[in-house]
Amino acid sequence: MTAPLLAPALELRGIGRTFRLREKGGLFARYTDHVAVRDVDLVLPRNAILGLVGESGSGKTTTGMMALRLLEPTTGRILVDGQDITALDPAALKPFRRRMQVVFQDSYSAIDPMMTLAQVVAEPLHIHGQGSRAGQTEAALAMLERVGLDRRYGSRYAHELSGGQRQRVAIARALILRPQVLVADEPTSALDVSVKAQIINLLMDLQAEMGLSILFISHDLSVVRSLTDRVAVMWNGRVVEEAPTEAIFTDARHPYTRSLLEAIPVLNPRLRRARSFPTRAEIEAQTPRLPAIPGLAAGATPQLVAEGDRRYEAIVGGVVGGIGGAATPEATIP
Ligand SMILES: Nc1ncnc2c1ncn2[C@@H]1O[C@H](COP(=O)(O)OP(=O)(O)OP(=O)(O)O)[C@@H](O)[C@H]1O
Ligand SMILES: [Mg+2]
Repeated sequence: MTAPLLAPALELRGIGRTFRLREKGGLFARYTDHVAVRDVDLVLPRNAILGLVGESGSGKTTTGMMALRLLEPTTGRILVDGQDITALDPAALKPFRRRMQVVFQDSYSAIDPMMTLAQVVAEPLHIHGQGSRAGQTEAALAMLERVGLDRRYGSRYAHELSGGQRQRVAIARALILRPQVLVADEPTSALDVSVKAQIINLLMDLQAEMGLSILFISHDLSVVRSLTDRVAVMWNGRVVEEAPTEAIFTDARHPYTRSLLEAIPVLNPRLRRARSFPTRAEIEAQTPRLPAIPGLAAGATPQLVAEGDRRYEAIVGGVVGGIGGAATPEATIP
């Protein structure tokens, strides 16, 4: 199969994940299925940063892990560069693994405390058999320098570093193979404000320099606004809205997106107002109602609809005038 010329760096099509949970108590094992992610379509363009936001438990990490095939999806397909990697066995997957890397919030736990930082950063080159030992060490030292750590750090150990320095090492290790795709899952949420800004700037520079595509998972909406090109909003395991970043922040269509944005702490006390987060029922009641759209089935279940370069969940056809109902999305939000 030949890939289309300009396929996105990463594409998720109808991806889903159900966890089978064992119920407590009882003589016989009973299981319930928990749908963590349901039917998610996402496109991570080349050389771009896509934000993934949503409350805790909405399915962001599960989605990111499936994109990397570090967690097997229950449904759907994963395409890297237009090539379907969903069913590849470990050997066939290996070249793709090189092209997709991850940085976590707590990368410290992934760093071997017995290895020098040069060894930590060089290890992926070693695993993938790239270059001589000396070449690998030299590349690691150069990469440490690139992320803002002096070459002398190469002979140090992770426990000697601050949290921000450890994230720099994690980024160096993730980028040493020159991947195309980086999944950054809350990479700055354990850091204090000034260090956070430095790491964000570093990620932005590296993204531009290496033409990286980044899936940036974060609770920090101000960071998401400054860093990303597009934002996908997850709620209850679904993407309820996806749009260019400015459209999300200034002109959101979905009630969940709006309530998420309103929850950003407001520093000016005069602007701060008492508010409670809407319930699930309230958000469902406020889901935009659209008149019938040619080619889309009408129904009471929300579905993703496209409007220009944005997509959002709406109830299509036949229910205009229902709860919260009006024909235009704006009119459904009080
Ligand atoms: N290994 C697992 N077994 C069972 N349930 C899981 C597992 N991993 C995740 N879940 C469940 O899947 C849902 C989504 O979890 P996920 O970690 O993807 O959320 P998240 O959006 O990353 O949250 P956070 O912002 O807190 O990191 C949650 O309900 C979670 O409890
Ligand atoms: Mg998470």
